[in-house]
Amino acid sequence: MRVALVGANGHGAHHRRNVPDLVALCDPADIEGAPPGVPLFRDHHAMLSAIKPDVVIVCTPPATHLPIASAALRAGADVLLEKPPVLNLAEHDELSRVEGETGRFVQVGFQALGSPQLPELRRHAPCDVSVVSSWQRDDAYWSRSSWAGRLPLDGALRNPFAHAIMQALSVNDSPLASVEVAWCRTREQLEVDDTATLRLTLANGHRVLIAVTLAGDEFADGWLSAGPFQGNFRHDNGVSLLANLIAHRISGEPLLAPLAKTRDFTAIVQVLSTMPEPALVASEISGGTRTLPGIAAILRECGREFALLNEISNPWAAKVTGGAATIG
Ligand SMILES: NC(=O)c1ccc[n+]([C@@H]2O[C@H](COP(=O)([O-])OP(=O)(O)OC[C@H]3O[C@@H](n4cnc5c(N)ncnc54)[C@H](O)[C@@H]3O)[C@@H](O)[C@H]2O)c1
Repeated sequence: MRVALVGANGHGAHHRRNVPDLVALCDPADIEGAPPGVPLFRDHHAMLSAIKPDVVIVCTPPATHLPIASAALRAGADVLLEKPPVLNLAEHDELSRVEGETGRFVQVGFQALGSPQLPELRRHAPCDVSVVSSWQRDDAYWSRSSWAGRLPLDGALRNPFAHAIMQALSVNDSPLASVEVAWCRTREQLEVDDTATLRLTLANGHRVLIAVTLAGDEFADGWLSAGPFQGNFRHDNGVSLLANLIAHRISGEPLLAPLAKTRDFTAIVQVLSTMPEPALVASEISGGTRTLPGIAAILRECGREFALLNEISNPWAAKVTGGAATIG
């Protein structure tokens, strides 16, 4: 299988390590540590027509996903598209249309859908699902790329915890009915949340509660509860999504993270883009870090109670912003 990579720096370096025999790399910027002998392109159209790859990994900033993935499908390739797949439902439906029209496939880079714990989680469905995480990300993280900390696609919920949302949603596999959020931020220059609670209500009546921070006072990894099951959404080193996409291309093996399965995730991204901006709250500042004292315990309580940050007693309850929306 001839696999090419578009977007070779940043997270693309991870794909370069995982797929040592790439047939081409494409990036408008100079590629750090480009391997000798591999053809390099500045433009994906030129790469697609010169190389005609079977599979294209698209690992570029999210706003570029729709045109690049569409061009790769139209060139006859299947696509491993980094998450978040696209910016909104109109783009999602357009990419689905191109998939249908070309007869090719898009697998979305939600590793959590290849997790070995997912079949076990699904055995407990239908059930409520919660995820609690308390991480710490410093100034370097918030300046890692031109879109870091910016609307419409960065932020705790939409970026690092996207995997948590996607895995939690796929436990019940029931359509999304409504979205509620309460969120805040500790850095003035951010346009997005670094601390958030998100409650999803599903058509089957069950709920998903995501309670997360990147300004944590203590570390809580990716704790996920599904009914009586306790797991970690970060236990994702199961099936490689690229290997699964190639197996699908060769022998029709079912895709683990097909584009269609991620439509509710895109609906959440779209709803979050309509919510009031996260409130700026006071934090403890030390070097490049911001910490909300006591936040990990509060988030654990939110997870237990399926409560948003403004629904239980805590120092930020009256300050957080947010809102609610129904889907469909
Ligand atoms: N699955 C994960 O856990 C994970 C982790 C990190 C990032 N990501 C995703 O990977 C994608 C890339 O993120 P990043 O942080 O590496 O972004 P980035 O802003 O660092 O960009 C990555 C590369 O894409 C290149 N690029 C930009 N426009 C391009 C174009 N039109 N054609 C070709 N290359 C282009 C940039 O020059 C850069 O080298 C995003 O969708 C992000 O959400 C996923």
